[in-house]
Amino acid sequence: MRQKVIRSDIKVTDQLATQECGKPAPPQSTFSGFAGEIVRWQKDHGRNSLPWQNTRDPYRVWLSEIMLQQTQVSTVVDYYDRFLQHFPEVSDLAAAKQDDVLGLWSGLGYYSRARNLHRCAQEVMALHAGEFPHTADELQTLPGIGRSTAAAIASFCFGERVAILDGNVKRVLTRVLGFSADLAHVASERALWDQATELLPDEDLAQTMPRYTQGLMDLGATICTGRQPQCLLCPVQNLCRGSASGEPTKYPVKTRKLKRSAQALSLLWAQMPDGSVWLEKRASTGIWGGLYCLPAFDSDDALKTLLLESVKGRFEPMQTFVHVLTHKDLYLSPWIAEFRSGQAMPRAMVSEDRPGAWFSPDAWPALGLPAPIRKLLARDDSK
Ligand code: ADE
Repeated sequence: MRQKVIRSDIKVTDQLATQECGKPAPPQSTFSGFAGEIVRWQKDHGRNSLPWQNTRDPYRVWLSEIMLQQTQVSTVVDYYDRFLQHFPEVSDLAAAKQDDVLGLWSGLGYYSRARNLHRCAQEVMALHAGEFPHTADELQTLPGIGRSTAAAIASFCFGERVAILDGNVKRVLTRVLGFSADLAHVASERALWDQATELLPDEDLAQTMPRYTQGLMDLGATICTGRQPQCLLCPVQNLCRGSASGEPTKYPVKTRKLKRSAQALSLLWAQMPDGSVWLEKRASTGIWGGLYCLPAFDSDDALKTLLLESVKGRFEPMQTFVHVLTHKDLYLSPWIAEFRSGQAMPRAMVSEDRPGAWFSPDAWPALGLPAPIRKLLARDDSK
C-alpha cells in the first residue's frame, strides 16, 4: 500500500541579502518540513553527550550501535568504556581471544552479538585492511551488521543519505505518516523503508544526516514512546497524522506477535570445599553460546542420574528461579553438589562435548558468564 509522503522539504534560501557593511550575507538555511524539524530539535533537545557521540570513528560508532541493540543507553555506557579500554582499536579486538571478548560482554545478553562483533573485527582486518567500509551497502556485508545498523554507522560517520529503521524509529515514522499497513508483511516493511528514505534530509548531508539519524532515535526514546507519547512536546506534532487522528498509539500495526515459550533447565552447582565451582564452556551456537556455565540438564532426573553415585556430600535442589529472555522464560533449578577436596568429576560429565573445569571465585569476574548464572553464584547461599 502506498501512502502519500510528507516530503522532507529542506529549503535553503540562497538569498544574497546585503548586510549593513555591504558584504553579501552567508546563505541562510531555512530548513523546513519534517527533516528540518528533526535536525533542529535534536540540536536543542536531543542527547548530545553520550560517550559514542561527537566522534566519526566508525569503530567506536559501530561498537556502540551493536551494544545498543535491545539494550538501554544507561546499561551500555559502562560496558562501552570498559570495552574500549581493553580494545582501543579494531585491531586489538580482532586479535583478542573469544573468551576475553565474551568476558567483557558478560551481562549484556544476546551473546551472538559479541561473537559476531569479534568476527566482524577480524573481517575488517582481513578483508578491509583494518578500515571499516564507508557505505551502508558494504557495511551490511559484515557479520552482525544489518540494514539499520549499517545505515546508522554510514550516516553518523560518513553523512550518507540512508534511512535507519529500528523499533523506535518504526514507531515514530508509522505515527507521523499514519502508516497503517501491517508490518508483519514483508511488503509493508519494504514500503516503510521507502518512505523513510523519502523523508531524509537532502542538503548538507555531512552535517544534517548524523543529527537527523540521532534525532529520530532520540524522539523515539524520549517523546514518541510506546504507550504514552508526549505529543505536546513533539517537534513534528503538526505534521503527524497519528497525533491528528487522536490515537497515535494505534501505530505501528503488527499482527503477528512474538510467540513466547518456556524452557526448564536443571543446573549443577558442583562445589569444592575451597569454593571452586565446576563450569563448562558451552558450544558456540545456541543459548549462551561460547559462555561458561553451570552444567545444564533438561530435567532434574537427568542431572541426578549422572551425579547421585559420586556425590558423597550435600546434594539437594535449591529454589527454582525464572530468567526472562525476549522469546522465552527460563525456569532454572540449581542443584548444589558438594565435592570433597581432590575428588574427580564423574567420567560421564567430562567429554569433548562438555569441556569443564574447576574455577575458583577469583576467576569468575573475568569469565563470560550468563547474567543469571553470575547472579546465582554471587548469591552464594549454597552454604
Ligand atoms: N540506540 C541505537 N543507537 C543509538 C544512539 N546512537 N544513541 C542512543 N540510542 C541509540
